[in-house]
Amino acid sequence: MQAVPIRFEQFNQLADQDAQQRILAARASLGKRAVLLCHHYQRADVYRHADITGDSLKLSRLAAQSDAEFIVFCGVHFMAEVADILSRPEQIAILPDLAAGCSMADMASLAKVERCWREINTLMNADAQFTPVTYINSAADLKAFCGRHGGIVCTSSNAPKILEWSFAQRGKILFFPDQHLGRWSGHKMGIPLDEMPVWDPDLEMGGLTPAQLERARIVLWKGHCAVHQMFQPAHILRFRNTYPDGLVISHPECSFEVCQQSDYIGSTESILSTVKQAPPGTRWLVGTELNLVERLAEEVKADNKIVQFMSPTVCMCSTMQRIDPQHLAWTLENLAEGQVVNRITVPQHEAVLAKVALQRMLDVS
Ligand code: 13P
Ligand code: SF4
Repeated sequence: MQAVPIRFEQFNQLADQDAQQRILAARASLGKRAVLLCHHYQRADVYRHADITGDSLKLSRLAAQSDAEFIVFCGVHFMAEVADILSRPEQIAILPDLAAGCSMADMASLAKVERCWREINTLMNADAQFTPVTYINSAADLKAFCGRHGGIVCTSSNAPKILEWSFAQRGKILFFPDQHLGRWSGHKMGIPLDEMPVWDPDLEMGGLTPAQLERARIVLWKGHCAVHQMFQPAHILRFRNTYPDGLVISHPECSFEVCQQSDYIGSTESILSTVKQAPPGTRWLVGTELNLVERLAEEVKADNKIVQFMSPTVCMCSTMQRIDPQHLAWTLENLAEGQVVNRITVPQHEAVLAKVALQRMLDVS
């Protein structure tokens, strides 16, 4: 058994083919001790090794049910944190590259959300009037904030249900960090746009007047996904002009205008199942990350279905992309040698409260 972890430098220059071989060898040696979870945006040369694939909700459920000693999460940081929180204490969650973060999650910090709560408190009792709702794309300390203040977590696949639950608790919602998911879900519940003002964390009182806060049903945090903001209504218009029978499906992290002009809106899992279940011969324009869209296009080709990517430019989740075969090989070889690298551990005091908010979500959805 190795006394010290193998250093990544030894894998940095590894040819892709060699990395693939070493992943297979390490996996064979680990057997059922390691489970490999992959988000749908993961690059193809890593995705091919997945035991389980899914959207954020499915992966968080399955992480909690796995028996494996090591949960190797090929996704982004917040996903591995959720796996750590929901798994048993003896299980170990691992993120093969610690730099695989989520730029949207980084748009809300605990300090800024606490300041927002304090500022709301100068006008009204935040704890009595607001249910805080955090999108799962957020750091564990924000999930803990929601656990502490009677709030909840949501994902792209359960947001409407979670909003219903939240309104049953209190009259208003503070939704962070993705304004687009919050706005679209509120709109689907019939809430007018002027009752969903945006809180800008860089401005005093979020840039809102007392009257706007009084009137608000959902206060939306000023955050977004850099990948999904690349999709534009003009892309949909061009597609519809060229293919009047074509269908458009988008992720709810897209802008309100893109969502409004799409035929279907759904999580990554639901985008995949909708297109796979569609009649043969249909043509689709898909507004979500490129790795998913390219894989889907290949899979449904045999059914004579055509899948097109929404943007003319490349839109990849560049942070998730950091988990490459070299990092995966390095992580797995270390595990096979008895060394744990890149473990994700949420501090106990945060994990307990974050689990409260996550468990509420799992119970509601
Ligand atoms: P899903 O939960 O739909 O997989 O979305 C996660 C995500 O980060 C999309 O950008
Ligand atoms: Fe975060 Fe956007 Fe990547 Fe999803 S696609 S993980 S929201 S940066």
